[in-house]
Amino acid sequence: MTEIKPRQSYLGASVIFRDLGREYPLIERAEGIYLYDTNGKRYIDGSGGSAVVTSIGHGVQEVIDAAVEQMRKVSYVPMHMFAHRPLLDFADLIASLTPKGLDRVWFVSGGSEATENAVKLARQYHLERGQPSKFKIISRWQSYHGATLGALAYGGHTFRRRKYVPMLHDQPKIPPAYRYRCAFCKDAPACNLECANALERTIRLEGEENVAAFIAEPVVGAALGAVPAPDGYFQRIREICDRYDVLLIADEVMTGFGRTGVMFAMNHWNVVPDIVTVAKGISGGYTPLGAVIVRSAIVEQFERNRSNFVGGHTYVGNPLSCAVGLAVVRYLVEHDLATKARENGKYMLARFEELRSHPIVGDVRGQGLMVGLEFVRDRATKEPFPPEQRIAARIGLEALDRGLVTYPGTGSVDGVLGDHMLFGPPLIITRAQIDDLVAILDQAITAVERQV
Ligand SMILES: Cc1ncc(COP(=O)(O)O)c(C=O)c1O
Repeated sequence: MTEIKPRQSYLGASVIFRDLGREYPLIERAEGIYLYDTNGKRYIDGSGGSAVVTSIGHGVQEVIDAAVEQMRKVSYVPMHMFAHRPLLDFADLIASLTPKGLDRVWFVSGGSEATENAVKLARQYHLERGQPSKFKIISRWQSYHGATLGALAYGGHTFRRRKYVPMLHDQPKIPPAYRYRCAFCKDAPACNLECANALERTIRLEGEENVAAFIAEPVVGAALGAVPAPDGYFQRIREICDRYDVLLIADEVMTGFGRTGVMFAMNHWNVVPDIVTVAKGISGGYTPLGAVIVRSAIVEQFERNRSNFVGGHTYVGNPLSCAVGLAVVRYLVEHDLATKARENGKYMLARFEELRSHPIVGDVRGQGLMVGLEFVRDRATKEPFPPEQRIAARIGLEALDRGLVTYPGTGSVDGVLGDHMLFGPPLIITRAQIDDLVAILDQAITAVERQV
């Protein structure tokens, strides 16, 4: 076999990088909220593994032990033949954390798979009830539900969709609940929830007999940069869904498992969805894992009909991922990290508010330890920067140079214009570490501000 020598520079390496023209720092190890590269440089994991993943921090011994122990026992069994202990225990633990009645769990390998399986479950549920015309999934613009073709079709992130549009199943979309740039209530003194009423109008226009489900993120992550729904929004959405026999799917892939200061973000509004998708925080980055949490009444319909859910991927409910996820969520619960996220999230938001001293910071928003910034050329008019200036990406690179990982994004205004940045550090972050994070971010914004 050919000997593979470690590369000094890996531009031109065999791997397909996310950004083909960039040389990435080579990360060697991680601990707590820090990543360390091969040159010994330290980075604050300010966005939780870039995409708000690393909930309990890096290198937790209990999780490592659980993984090793499970690998010694068995790493994989096919789910069409066997069950196993971590699967049963993990599903029970999740069910104990969700509202009553929302307590059946289907494990997958990540967030996109969770979206795909959630909409398939919704569709099949209506079929099982003798409602075969119900198939449309209404979603929102400036949302993100995953990168597979089905999930992209339900998502409303223009940049991620546009190269694949001819391959996407056309699905109805309503505007997001986005107070900073809301077309419905921009001249009103307060939110009038017209953005929620848009769902009712769309269901009626599409024909209620055709609509299977509505999917939305409680706090919009990648596509808008930590925009929470206004109070009353999801209560209104729940009423509308009930009125038209439409299932409510909460995409809690980013918000689930304590991120926003409660176990699931929909708890902020006491709204119980029919289906919840989770990933990221469910395993805190220790293994690829996701799940679809389903109301028992839905699964009971399948059971009554003796009809199985037609889903199933090779790694559904595999023992290793379940054991790791179980250890992560146990750790999260035992250390009450949701409460920590709530308390330190308030502190982080307050510290971010100070960044308004920069003229290009137009908005600061968030919930718990999911906090975002939006950059504007003119704060009074909210005029965005031209996209070719790549403001958020440049601030992200300045921050990385200084040892802070961020999640820059674009398209917050209309899918093309708009620069934002999302933060979601591990839930174990301390106030002193938040101060360090803000200090680096402050410098990074200053550096770019000087150039524009
Ligand atoms: C809200 C939301 N849903 C779904 C996904 C897709 O998850 P994955 O990247 O694990 O497929 C993401 C990923 O960022 C997300 O933020």
